[in-house]
Amino acid sequence: MEMPTLTIGTRTARLPIVQGGMAVRISMAPLATAVAQAGGVGLIAGSGLTAEELAAEVRAAREATDGVIGVNIMVAIRKFKELVHAAISEGADLIVCGAGFSRDVFTWCRDAGVECVPIVGSERVAKLSQRFGASAVVVEGHEAGGHLGTDEYMLDLLPRIVEAVDIPVIGAGGVITGADIKRALDKGAAGVQMGSRFVATVESSACDAFKQMYVDSTDEDIVLIKSPVGLPGRALRNPLTDRLLANDYPPIERCVACLKECGKEYCIVDKLVLAQTGDVEKGLVFAGSAAARVHDIPTVEVLMKRLVAEWQAASEGGLA
Ligand SMILES: Cc1cc2nc3c(=O)[nH]c(=O)nc-3n(C[C@H](O)[C@H](O)[C@H](O)COP(=O)(O)O)c2cc1C
Repeated sequence: MEMPTLTIGTRTARLPIVQGGMAVRISMAPLATAVAQAGGVGLIAGSGLTAEELAAEVRAAREATDGVIGVNIMVAIRKFKELVHAAISEGADLIVCGAGFSRDVFTWCRDAGVECVPIVGSERVAKLSQRFGASAVVVEGHEAGGHLGTDEYMLDLLPRIVEAVDIPVIGAGGVITGADIKRALDKGAAGVQMGSRFVATVESSACDAFKQMYVDSTDEDIVLIKSPVGLPGRALRNPLTDRLLANDYPPIERCVACLKECGKEYCIVDKLVLAQTGDVEKGLVFAGSAAARVHDIPTVEVLMKRLVAEWQAASEGGLA
């Protein structure tokens, strides 16, 4: 039994697996390239990078693979337009955007022949996205890692969005195994977007301690914190999240006004960069609600083959 392919506008990936964009600097060219080479869609996270840095990452990925490469950028970022244009000019196949809604991005993508894929959390925004020209939508449920836009679970939200639009719907949140992929496809998803599972891979740019925290985590380690972006964020518990949960915010050492609107309780970018570069006690380790189900740090190639085998076993009535 063959896994279905995933077509987003004019681009087709051999496997219906999108590796979610993960900022800051977790999903960079090495991870996105490896996923695209293995048949999925690889997304580079643009949020928190300069336009030059993002351009260099997209260029590196583009030179390394003919597979499907996209860029994820938060609409809430002040340099959203600059980053989208940097990604487009270096040959990104698609732009995935969440944490806000931009009408302009549809025009920029259409003019450049690039697929535009908004992240949505309701039927209303899914329909609006389709009307503006989205090639697909990502439905991100409450299970997801990072910033959260909805209280609803992906598997509950997904069928309603599938019903509401005629474009491919990609389910995100809580997908760790091939059996999870099957559950989402059975509910009408054209594909899945996976974040946490890809954090703990050899090619992810998270530091080793970040990846190991995932492997060592239990369900009790997963917490929701308040982000200055104005949304809740899901992370692994550490001394920093204990402080944040006690409303004891670390001082902002420098501010480059990276967000269009920021609560300024603390600097989210600094804390994400700290964790990515090695300090997993003072930094913020974003993680999905199913991160405790990640038990190893394989290469992307091994992981993708495993996901296909698990999907096949589940589809043939084997594993649940
Ligand atoms: C470490 C980490 C960073 C993330 N950063 C972003 C981001 O910059 N932009 C975004 O749209 N989603 C971000 N996400 C969400 C993922 O792209 C993906 O949709 C989500 O993790 C799916 O849920 P899962 O982790 O249960 O697979 C992040 C998730 C994680 C775990």
